[in-house]
Amino acid sequence: MKIGIIGLGYVGLVTSAVLADQGHLVVGVDVDSKRVEGLSCGRNPIYEPGLDELLAKNKDRLQFTTDYAKLSDVDVAFISVSTPTVNGEIYLEYVMSASKSLAKVLRKDSLIVMKSTVLPGTSRKVREITGREVVSNPEFLKEGSAIKDSINPDRVVIGSYTKEAGDVVESIWKFTGAPIVRTTPEEAEMIKYAANSFLAMKVSFINEIANLCERIPNCDVNKIAEGIGLDKRISPHFLKAGLGWGGSCFPKDTLAISTFARSLGTPLRTVDASIQVNNERPKRAVTLLKEIMGQLKGRKVCVLGVAFKADTDDTRESVALKVIDILKEEGAQVVAYDPKAKANVTMVSMEQCIDESEGVIIATEWNHFKGIEDKLRGKYVVDGRRLLDPSKMDLTKFRAIGLGTPSIQGE
Ligand code: NAD
Ligand code: UDX
Repeated sequence: MKIGIIGLGYVGLVTSAVLADQGHLVVGVDVDSKRVEGLSCGRNPIYEPGLDELLAKNKDRLQFTTDYAKLSDVDVAFISVSTPTVNGEIYLEYVMSASKSLAKVLRKDSLIVMKSTVLPGTSRKVREITGREVVSNPEFLKEGSAIKDSINPDRVVIGSYTKEAGDVVESIWKFTGAPIVRTTPEEAEMIKYAANSFLAMKVSFINEIANLCERIPNCDVNKIAEGIGLDKRISPHFLKAGLGWGGSCFPKDTLAISTFARSLGTPLRTVDASIQVNNERPKRAVTLLKEIMGQLKGRKVCVLGVAFKADTDDTRESVALKVIDILKEEGAQVVAYDPKAKANVTMVSMEQCIDESEGVIIATEWNHFKGIEDKLRGKYVVDGRRLLDPSKMDLTKFRAIGLGTPSIQGE
């Protein structure tokens, strides 16, 4: 098939590379000319494991352009532009603008596939605007394992108005071998928000249990997660206590669905509570540091990790950045290190970051920070992602999220 991909960000680029690898001809369109120029010269703008290689391997089947007219002969056009939340509400201008551009160039029988995360009812609007058949096919990939997730998803959700249109999208993803869930477009759109909200709620739940564990001697939240996660009804995933969830999806999607639900008079109280719990997480890291270090004014603190999670260079809604802001408000001098991501703070090597500072907060779950107990000797340390072995740490100068040992409780 000849496939158009509109929006060459994390989702669009990964989808482009994966579908080209399946033998499709892919035309990727983005309004960001610098991004397109770079891609056309083989420069990948994002860090995602395996993506460089997959783009290079399939370069003959991949074309990148800012020109929508190049989509005039595609069979299917995927919309994967960003859908941010602005002032608590979903901002649909990028989707609408892409739709209007598509309406001008696509063949009448071309299919539009909505991959962007959009509220129930949006695909219907795009169908009206474009006069083309639209199928909702939400994306569930995670950054850091995006290619793996895209090739091997837990399920593929296809929401269509007509059986024929749904069948076309099903044929594209058949190679994954994943269970296919056929729905209405509104159900498909809702599934995406319900999935993200549920996962975010799971993490907020275990983070509240972590707060409780910190007040109970000999009670480690990781053991609680292990003990409950083996119950198949609960599952072990998304039970890692830490500084909370960030990234380009959970924060904006939970807010968008919460506002949408309230506007319909049916507030999502569990989602609202999860957001509230999450908003308090960055402060927790600084509170724990102050417990062991005292006042932070004028003192140097190193933040290890600025990406919103491991294996990505993405800092959107990163909890680490919020931790840095709070540290600065407390008057601390902040330096940071991340293996891939950059931030608006003094960034130095990991060794320099630790050596220069009195206090250290581990804010991102990079494997890089495992086994560095020796390097941290003499420092005040908060392990916000549970990467360190407490038995190797000086417990008078150490705090870890959800770890309630007698000595940490000051007994
Ligand atoms: P992104 O911000 O990384 O990329 C979006 C791209 O769209 C940008 O390059 C931007 O220049 C381009 N764009 C904006 N308006 C355009 C237009 N009118 N025409 C052409 N290009 C345009 O976004 P992303 O992280 O890939 O997310 C895309 C969508 O997928 C969002 O709705 C998001 O919620 C959803 N999603 C993201 C992830 C993820 O892990 N990042 C996972 C699942 C779903
Ligand atoms: C998420 C969804 O998982 C994915 O299905 C959707 O398509 C996009 O949004 P992503 O944002 O890439 O993916 O990252 P994810 O691995 O879900 O992590 C989100 C946040 O939760 C990160 O900040 C991570 O640190 C945090 N997290 C995750 C935890 O704190 N504990 C966990 O157990 C899992």
